[in-house]
Amino acid sequence: MPHAITPRRIAASLAEYWSPRVIGAVDDSYVKVAKLLGEFGWHAHVDEDELFLVLSGHLRIELEAGAVDLAEGDVFIVPKGTRHNPVARAECHVMLFERKTTLHTGDVVNERTRSIADQLRPITQQPGD
Ligand code: NI
Repeated sequence: MPHAITPRRIAASLAEYWSPRVIGAVDDSYVKVAKLLGEFGWHAHVDEDELFLVLSGHLRIELEAGAVDLAEGDVFIVPKGTRHNPVARAECHVMLFERKTTLHTGDVVNERTRSIADQLRPITQQPGD
């Protein structure tokens, strides 16, 4: 049976911050959700654009040219090669759209880096979800 997915509910069910999880694929790109809190750190994706859609809360994306403040429902696409630093002063849930090869920490590999395999782990939802 075809069925809809509810990114907002899946994002809310995640246990870890800054650990994006794949919820679908569109040709060469993944659709992901993530739960954010705090400052992620500056990085760039050399040859990949990155779309952020805020599902709940507020997200500031700092860029060298200035900061973009996103409220629920807002979208910002970080152009390839642009250094950026996502900052969530309070818990924020996002949906991401990015090419399958994109590492969320971009050109920086640190303790926050999650492999694509990790991001593809099945999501266990709570009963009733
Ligand atoms: Ni990024």
